[in-house]
Amino acid sequence: MDDPVVFDVPAPFVVEGIVGQGAYGAVCKAKYGNELRAIKKIPNYSKSCDSAKKVLREVQILQQHQYCQQVICCHTMFRPSSGDKDVYVVMDFQPSDLSSTIKDKNITLDEDRVRYIVAQLLLGLRALHANDCIHRDLSTRNILINEDSQVYLCDFGLSRFFDPDEQLSFGVVTQWYRAPEIILDAQYDFRADVWSVGVILGELLLRKHLFPGKPNDHADQLNRIFMLCGTPSKDLFAEGRSLARSSDNARRYSFMYIDKRPTQPHLAKVLEGVAGASPNAIALFARLLTFDQAARPTANEALQDPWFEPLRDFINQEMEAMDSVEKPAIPSDSGELADILEQIETLVKPFPEALKIMQDQEAEYAAAAAQDDAAAESS
Ligand SMILES: Nc1ncnc2c1ncn2[C@@H]1O[C@H](COP(=O)(O)OP(=O)(O)O)[C@@H](O)[C@H]1O
Ligand SMILES: [Mg+2]
Repeated sequence: MDDPVVFDVPAPFVVEGIVGQGAYGAVCKAKYGNELRAIKKIPNYSKSCDSAKKVLREVQILQQHQYCQQVICCHTMFRPSSGDKDVYVVMDFQPSDLSSTIKDKNITLDEDRVRYIVAQLLLGLRALHANDCIHRDLSTRNILINEDSQVYLCDFGLSRFFDPDEQLSFGVVTQWYRAPEIILDAQYDFRADVWSVGVILGELLLRKHLFPGKPNDHADQLNRIFMLCGTPSKDLFAEGRSLARSSDNARRYSFMYIDKRPTQPHLAKVLEGVAGASPNAIALFARLLTFDQAARPTANEALQDPWFEPLRDFINQEMEAMDSVEKPAIPSDSGELADILEQIETLVKPFPEALKIMQDQEAEYAAAAAQDDAAAESS
């Protein structure tokens, strides 16, 4: 068994327990004065140039998108006093993620709530995409939600800035939410995130997984998509089209499937009779899960969909707020390991400096709490 994760956090934080453990980091719940925080430990950023770049992107992208209401609020980040090359990210604690919410049958997910959740997801993506960032790991586990159904994107561990000339890596995005262009090892862009929203919309309405492919079985994952979305036209693999750069293997497999088992889309059928799946909801579901990424809407286009009419004012306000913020410059993450480490360490300060601020704040909290108590006693 793996060693338990040690959270080397300063005194104002009182760790209450682990709430999440993913492939790279671990997240604990901690008390901070009267408030709750979630603290993510991103271990060992100096291991290799690749791991350092990954951590740098996670830190940069989270910090740069703090103005966006749909991105988890990060209060501070610090490096531990031990000198270990770890980053601790201190966030607002949110009571649940979408995966747990979908499984909890005591929670109602009616059409209005699902619409509100999906609109917020698309707003968050719109902000990221406008800054040339792709999340690349949108899944129900990486979306936090509170009691008011406000949702927050988290886990920017696979996010990166998009460079159209660079072949992006294959294998990103938790498999069940992975867009077909990524499975086929073709070129992909922001619309891969939009595909994931389509899968999540289906899961919110159905309250079960939409494409639960066998782990690491790309063919099975693709078959499930073909069965529901229909087999694509072979033309999509031609020069200049969206799947032109797919791997030979993926192309051979797809052509064989298209020849042997051509399938029509069944997207509407899968939601037939499902509570909350109005004709407009089904229409957007099908748009988001458009096989051809070139024909799939962007997050911004999807937000114009008629299904969102009841939320039009909210959506417009949010868009206006995010558009009024100046775009951050795209930082460079090229360079040698030493450069990358320096960038991380510039963005994430070592512990003592942060401690001082936190101790001051804790003293403030204590004073405020004492005042409240005194006021309560005298009334
Ligand atoms: N701010 C938060 N509040 C509450 N729970 C959180 C918070 N951030 C993350 N979590 C939980 O911890 C899990 C792992 O966090 P995440 O950032 O996704 O790390 P990993 O990179 O290991 O997947 C999430 O799936 C979520 O359930
Ligand atoms: Mg995660």
